[in-house]
Amino acid sequence: MPLIAPSMLASDFARLGEEVRDVVSAGADWIHLDVMDGHFVPNITFGPDVIKAMRPHTDKVFDVHLMIEPVEPYIEAFAKAGADVITVQAEATRHLDRCLQLIRSLGKKAGVALNPATPESTVAYVLDKCDLICAMTVNPGFGGQSFIPDVLPKVARLRAMIGERPIHLEIDGGVNPQTGAQCVAVGANVLVAGSAVFKGGVEGYRANISAIRSACAQVRAAA
Ligand code: DX5
Ligand code: ZN
Repeated sequence: MPLIAPSMLASDFARLGEEVRDVVSAGADWIHLDVMDGHFVPNITFGPDVIKAMRPHTDKVFDVHLMIEPVEPYIEAFAKAGADVITVQAEATRHLDRCLQLIRSLGKKAGVALNPATPESTVAYVLDKCDLICAMTVNPGFGGQSFIPDVLPKVARLRAMIGERPIHLEIDGGVNPQTGAQCVAVGANVLVAGSAVFKGGVEGYRANISAIRSACAQVRAAA
């Protein structure tokens, strides 16, 4: 079964700690944290201090997605803030190999995110230095965008490239029960979902997460 990583981008920022606890009790496996700088992407969210403030609210994996450029000068701050996985956008660094080594040297899991138009060959020579590859299925910057199905063949090719390596293959953007199941069918094992989880108020979180899980289970059963 895929891991479900709700994106706090779609939560109520005025109640982040409570939202983290609520989504964890609704069944979240990981917590996905979208850091945006108004430069690499046309939106601004939060930085390490806000992540540090959320950290005491759960023991679940903090999956920190850095959509910032430059990224290298800030990696240590996110490690200290309590990130478990630190994912950089491949397009935001000239030195991807060095970035991944830096993340691992801080004792964290290292991830690479690929924009929809970025080919899978970008990670071909760093596979043994990364713990997670994230295929963006929207252009990063905003929650609530539509899933880009053209990325699905790339997800399948990434799964084949990963082979037996212990690398998570994550999908981020426009995930709902239907699109999430399509991604699992081609090999994804971590699904980030923002608006599909946080819609309908706190009483809906559990049902929203379950709906994604059961759609994926049907795909698995059919395979
Ligand atoms: C987009 C972010 C995503 C976003 C997903 O730039 O990286 O994590 O929160 O939101 P939804 O699930 O609403 O597309
Ligand atoms: Zn993200």
